[in-house]
Amino acid sequence: MSDTIKYTTYEASLERSRKLEEDLILHPEKYKVLTGDRPTGRLHIGHLFGSLQNRVRLFNMNVPTYIVIADYQVLTDHDAYDQISQNTKQLVIDYIAAGLNPEKENLCIFPHSYVPELNQLLLPFLTLVSNSELDRNPTVKEEIAASGKKTVNAGMYTYPVHQAADILAVRGTVVPVGKDQLPHLEITRTIARRFNEKYKMEQPVFPEPAALLSKTPLIKGLDGNQKMSKSRNNAIMLCNTEDETAALIKKAKTDAERHITYDPENRGEVANLLNLISLCTGEDPAAIADRIGDGGGGMLKKELTEAMNEYLRPLRKKRAELEKNPEYIRSVLFKGIDRARKEAGETLDLVRTAMNMKI
Ligand code: TRP
Repeated sequence: MSDTIKYTTYEASLERSRKLEEDLILHPEKYKVLTGDRPTGRLHIGHLFGSLQNRVRLFNMNVPTYIVIADYQVLTDHDAYDQISQNTKQLVIDYIAAGLNPEKENLCIFPHSYVPELNQLLLPFLTLVSNSELDRNPTVKEEIAASGKKTVNAGMYTYPVHQAADILAVRGTVVPVGKDQLPHLEITRTIARRFNEKYKMEQPVFPEPAALLSKTPLIKGLDGNQKMSKSRNNAIMLCNTEDETAALIKKAKTDAERHITYDPENRGEVANLLNLISLCTGEDPAAIADRIGDGGGGMLKKELTEAMNEYLRPLRKKRAELEKNPEYIRSVLFKGIDRARKEAGETLDLVRTAMNMKI
């Protein structure tokens, strides 16, 4: 294995992502989107504005859209497993409520644990990367450091290879992800390339997928200084009620200055709340600040509560309807599983042929 994996710079990935975005708009039919989530909890507005809406946009452009619910991946860094099934179904509810329509041909949602053909790709893929390459993965290193654990299970080091199997099983070409996932994309591209080079076929078996980076800036939590996340207790969940949303916003951090201005550098907390209003109403954050002015933090929060609840109302209504129909949610998953198994089976067949294992 010469040319060891270089975890490329953010700028290089951003440039590739920009070009991809331009071509996607012109030729949506050429591409296949695959992305995914770990079923570790419910989704919040950070997910909605940061990734879900981008998926809906691609889906509405008619690009075939595959979403893997990475349930095995949960086991790599979570000891608790009692909520995996619940969380999986809740993710599906959030996806549909946000605008993905499973009745359309171009959507496929599946948990990877139900697709043996995908999981089987892990074995040959593991032979295409070295231990030291997996050791150097910056995202995995961070996750290990954050876990504070002395012994790390081997699944933690190898899950990026499993993620490559998620993407390559359906031969996905576009992977909409955040910055932290870029090293995993690099591993996926390397595996595809090494496979094609080692097991030569007339047509290469795998495409080299590219990351599509989200354009929405990172959404901070209601405390204004760290990433929004459920575990940090600073998130507005899609499943929250309007009253819960109001209570959460009431507790949000602002600062001592009464007059509201939009100053992301020096007044991060206030700017974050203004940005959230702007995401809901489309109004410019500086213009919102001007309008509120001496109305102060109280008025800012009142406006945000109204804007957020109004914006989320249709989504939450849809959510509530879907919650009443668990059988439908299961049927969406089983339909996705059938399709993913069929496509992953075709890929596995090509892989077997290429590796000379066909009998
Ligand atoms: N690792 C991703 C996360 O933690 C989830 C994921 C699993 C994924 N498989 C994927 C993302 C395939 C994109 C493509 O968010």
